[in-house]
Amino acid sequence: MTAPTAPAGTSQPPLPPLPHWEEAPADLPAAIRQVKAALRARIAASGRTVEEVFGVVERLVRAEADDVAAARARGETVWPVVDYADIEAGTVPDEQVRALHRRGCLVVRGHFHREQALEWDRDIVGYTERNGFFDAYRGPGDDFFGSVGSKPEIYPIYWSRAQMQARQSDRTARVQAFLNARWKHESEGIRWFDPGRDSLYPDRIRRRPPGTASGGLGAHLDPGTLDLWMTGAYQRAFRHLFDGTVEQYDPWDAAHRTDGPQYPGTTMCSAFRTFQGWTALSDMEHDQGVLYAVPIPSAMAYLMLRPLLPDVPDDDMCGVTVNRVFPVSERWHPLLLEAVAGIPDVRAGDSVWWHCDLIHGVAPVEDQKGWGNVMYIPAAPWCPRNERYAAAVREAFATGSSPADFPAEHYERSWPDRFRPADLNATGRRGLGLDRAGTEPGRG
Ligand SMILES: [Fe+2]
Repeated sequence: MTAPTAPAGTSQPPLPPLPHWEEAPADLPAAIRQVKAALRARIAASGRTVEEVFGVVERLVRAEADDVAAARARGETVWPVVDYADIEAGTVPDEQVRALHRRGCLVVRGHFHREQALEWDRDIVGYTERNGFFDAYRGPGDDFFGSVGSKPEIYPIYWSRAQMQARQSDRTARVQAFLNARWKHESEGIRWFDPGRDSLYPDRIRRRPPGTASGGLGAHLDPGTLDLWMTGAYQRAFRHLFDGTVEQYDPWDAAHRTDGPQYPGTTMCSAFRTFQGWTALSDMEHDQGVLYAVPIPSAMAYLMLRPLLPDVPDDDMCGVTVNRVFPVSERWHPLLLEAVAGIPDVRAGDSVWWHCDLIHGVAPVEDQKGWGNVMYIPAAPWCPRNERYAAAVREAFATGSSPADFPAEHYERSWPDRFRPADLNATGRRGLGLDRAGTEPGRG
């Protein structure tokens, strides 16, 4: 890779380049030592110390964490909430747009009518029961969302009518376009993604029954692991963290995020998502083991710089490694975990969204009241990375297979009543890249 040149009008020499690995390195400890030394050297060459740069981030995050804690103490809902009707009408109040920008997360009330969502929930039950899913179920196909017992909580089901109808609906397209527009998607003469076109990223379903006792899911990060420090594209995306211009780091800048490779792993997401999200298929109370986030988008800068401080062993990235979820821990990130904020009560048909870099997890619950049912549907706008993955999605859709990002379980291949190509509308065809490619979808 090439190092950026000095700013115009200065005589500073170029900063030293960073080593990069476009595939996961074979010797991880050696590569971590090498990239950490290079990152430190690069920051030092900018005229600032790692401690100074980290201090800037820490003060910013501290102020946000204090604000979240104060809002929580006042009993306020930390997550911004908007009505779907305002998104459709283009009348979301500026104050709520600003709150979304600050917190990086959002609840959309009435994204779908409650009756529609409840009907979809029943449809999914019918779909799985008619096709003998619970007899065929072989247990968790990965080690991250695994659940104990004969019935799963996460259903590796992708192609039900309910899911596809929700993914290709105009209402979802409007919400996704609203969310995508929060990002800076054009810079350096490049349009990094198309905010008005989603790539229809197929994901799973969660159905958690009443009475569940669950330990929850620890705080973690979704967008990558060691690749965040080690690929050329991510090093460019996080350039301001590594070249002494940390004040210019913008968590909403999509530059260099939509075309790079990702290291493989059980929880990898090949797509670029502006927001991860789910749509509620049941009512859920805020204290029944629901999603929480650390609603501070710039906390990503903290996570990226923290391993460079001298108290972290040279071959350790604060516990981040390939094939494991990116952990956020009391040991390395206690400040961030002070700012945990759970979602408010939601009703079936509401949707919940969080910036792709937001730390999140699921709270534990004992004897859960009511169901906890969701369809995972993110905002994954059309871009080179998502266009590449769309080819794999088309293939999985045509054959009823599990998509390439997920364990190869393929339960739906022989299910006759899955969603069919003839059921696609224009949004669905565009999302799969069918109209643009002119490909006939009729293979399944
Ligand atoms: Fe996650």
